[in-house]
Amino acid sequence: MIEIDNISFTYTNGAATGRRILNNISLIIRPGESIAVMGPNGSGKTTFARCLNGLLLPMTGTVTVKGLPTNVAANLPEIRRQVGMVFQNPDNQIVSATVEREIAFGLENLGLPRTDMREIVNKMLADFELTEYRKKSPHYLSGGEKQRLAMAAVLAMRPSYLVLDEPTSLLDPKSRRDILEIIKQLHRRKGKPVTTLLITQFPDEALTADRLIIFHNGEIFMDDKPETIFKRVEELFQIGLEPPIEFALNEILKR
Ligand SMILES: Nc1ncnc2c1ncn2[C@@H]1O[C@H](COP(=O)(O)OP(=O)(O)O)[C@@H](O)[C@H]1O
Ligand SMILES: [Mg+2]
Repeated sequence: MIEIDNISFTYTNGAATGRRILNNISLIIRPGESIAVMGPNGSGKTTFARCLNGLLLPMTGTVTVKGLPTNVAANLPEIRRQVGMVFQNPDNQIVSATVEREIAFGLENLGLPRTDMREIVNKMLADFELTEYRKKSPHYLSGGEKQRLAMAAVLAMRPSYLVLDEPTSLLDPKSRRDILEIIKQLHRRKGKPVTTLLITQFPDEALTADRLIIFHNGEIFMDDKPETIFKRVEELFQIGLEPPIEFALNEILKR
């Protein structure tokens, strides 16, 4: 479980200095949940995501991952292993010279035996359809393949939570579908399902989650099933969001 208890965050540099980017947010993320997060640009989604694994520490309030508070420095290695992060641009995340090295990178720090490590790398390459590129530089992969590699590298560490910050916004429609399918599979996995939090600007992606949280001005504006939230068309329009087309049409036909 991740417990977010009354957190506030303010940047100390840049144009938003002094403004509360997160304003008294409380939330519980339970094991096995599939959560989507939407909100207008600048509503604090990325800042929130970065608080979940201690990349940022809130000024007030606490974030606790499986009982470990993020404001205790000694907890951070375990928290970072438990809460994997995938960002919008895989180029900012991929650091290794070859595809297989990228997947092995995080595992090396876990001190696994070499044979176990090789087995995990092979499995991730196969699961993410990257085996044929294993010796290649990630540089030569397409955007969709790079994002699959970023996910494979993070998931190789067997995190309990996966936070994805607009992972499909730079991808073509086919690659977008591939990434969404991978996210769905994470919940069907036997043994150890991964809890996911997907920040997205695409309402159809949010519809694949069990729970949708809407951010607005650094606060939680709505938190409910996606189907319930998307019926509140007027309120969504007011903060600059749109529901999936079928929900919007329904509303227009009713009038
Ligand atoms: N590293 C940073 N330093 C200073 N201000 C930032 C930084 N990152 C984001 N901000 C500001 O915080 C606000 C919220 O940004 P962000 O959390 O990225 O929102 P979102 O992901 O919802 O678009 C914006 O006004 C942005 O300018
Ligand atoms: Mg963002």
